[in-house]
Amino acid sequence: MLCSPHDPAPMTRRAEVARLGVLASGRGSNVGALLDAIDVGDLPAEVCALVCNVEGAGALELAAARGVSTHLLGHRDFASRRAHEDAIIEVFRAAHVEWVIMAGWMRVVTATLLDAFPDHVLNIHPSLLPSFRGMRAVEQALEAGVRITGCTVHRVHLEVDAGPILAQAAVPDLEHDTASTLHARIQRAEHHIYAPAIARALFEETL
Ligand code: GRF
Repeated sequence: MLCSPHDPAPMTRRAEVARLGVLASGRGSNVGALLDAIDVGDLPAEVCALVCNVEGAGALELAAARGVSTHLLGHRDFASRRAHEDAIIEVFRAAHVEWVIMAGWMRVVTATLLDAFPDHVLNIHPSLLPSFRGMRAVEQALEAGVRITGCTVHRVHLEVDAGPILAQAAVPDLEHDTASTLHARIQRAEHHIYAPAIARALFEETL
């Protein structure tokens, strides 16, 4: 379900449909999986805006092709992290976004963004947190020689990759895995757990 520019204000909308703002920097496979889940009715939500910070990123093209309002806000075009996040907030507020969904967003977020959407910022990370935080999670799992790794959906707090965990999936680290083959397997798991975890967070808020 996608937002139309003529959508009524949030107060008059059906309460069960959440308005999502997506942050993405990469290929966009998680964005595609979320849109698929919305299309088949597994996620009672609409993607009202997608902000991407990387020109030419697959996520931008994928979202635009599926009718999502997309916004390229390159972080280097802003004088500070705060100014960049202020611009993101402006886009999301204009679209009446209620939940911010990070789907491959490769920037650390600060209190500026988190305070604008308190407790309503979610992320997916390619490891079983609290193991292997940060940008090199898949490589670190390989280097550590773990036999099981996976992915985690969590609420975003100020400390990076450390907010309350909402869902996890385990993925085996096979003998001949490279970072690329392992990440591909982890991403397939991500595509299964992110939408249901978001749906559960939405549902729990209505209890
Ligand atoms: C995912 O593996 C996610 O866990 C990480 O970045 C990757 C994004 O992939 N934060 P994609 O752009 O959704 O394909």
